[in-house]
Amino acid sequence: MKTAHSLAEFTQMRSEIDGATAFVPTMGALHEGHLSLMRLAKERCESVIASIYVNPTQFAPHEDFDSYPRDLEGDLALLENEGVDLVFLPSEADIYPSGPAARTKSGCAAEGLESKFRPHFFDGVATVVSRFFEIVKPAHAVFGEKDFQQLQVIREMVETGGLPIEIIGGPIARDEHGLALSSRNEYLSAEELEIARMLNQIVYKAAENPTEDVLKEAQEMLLTAGFERINYVAYKPEWNRVLAAAWLGKTRLIDNCSIKKAD
Ligand code: PAF
Repeated sequence: MKTAHSLAEFTQMRSEIDGATAFVPTMGALHEGHLSLMRLAKERCESVIASIYVNPTQFAPHEDFDSYPRDLEGDLALLENEGVDLVFLPSEADIYPSGPAARTKSGCAAEGLESKFRPHFFDGVATVVSRFFEIVKPAHAVFGEKDFQQLQVIREMVETGGLPIEIIGGPIARDEHGLALSSRNEYLSAEELEIARMLNQIVYKAAENPTEDVLKEAQEMLLTAGFERINYVAYKPEWNRVLAAAWLGKTRLIDNCSIKKAD
């Protein structure tokens, strides 16, 4: 596995890869969910490129950019083990030559849900992902379905921009209790972890019959389980999904489930 620590190094190493590539962008602190995306990429394409970059423009000033978990050495060992060919570790100047600002506007898929609570988020994601696409030039790119709205935002961006990139969604990886894996799960105390494991059960239940009343009841169930603040439990018919976001201490958890079949 090759590791590029700068855009110049990446450009050189990228030019040595022939044929189509599959790309998996990450913010590091890798877990089984990320690794399952690497495997999906590997199935699709002989050559896999991953990136690790904690993108400042998708965090609001009051959010956890500084404390976001980072473990570069551990991440590189995991990626090597998955047979990733090239890892890109850009600097801020590589991604934002004119300074970190969200310059790409996300489309209609960004409306509502996450945007209501994290209005900065999708423009930051669209900006960094479009910059990565410009640099990496992948034929395929893989994103996890846990961030389901993000996946839709990226699909829309690729479609409206006419980019020749196939976007692949990877199923949510869960622990043995059904909790969706997330780098932010590291923030949870043992007691919070127990409560967090109720989220998927409540979302799955709501997805059986997502009426207004059922969605409201799901919010009440989350509060009863110990979640302190519910951002939303919502049904998006066009995505055939129930999606939820709720706070447990300093941790914001998201999850989603398709209506017909459980993930
Ligand atoms: O899903 C993530 O980890 C990030 O939002 C992404 C797509 C790597 C962009 O920074």
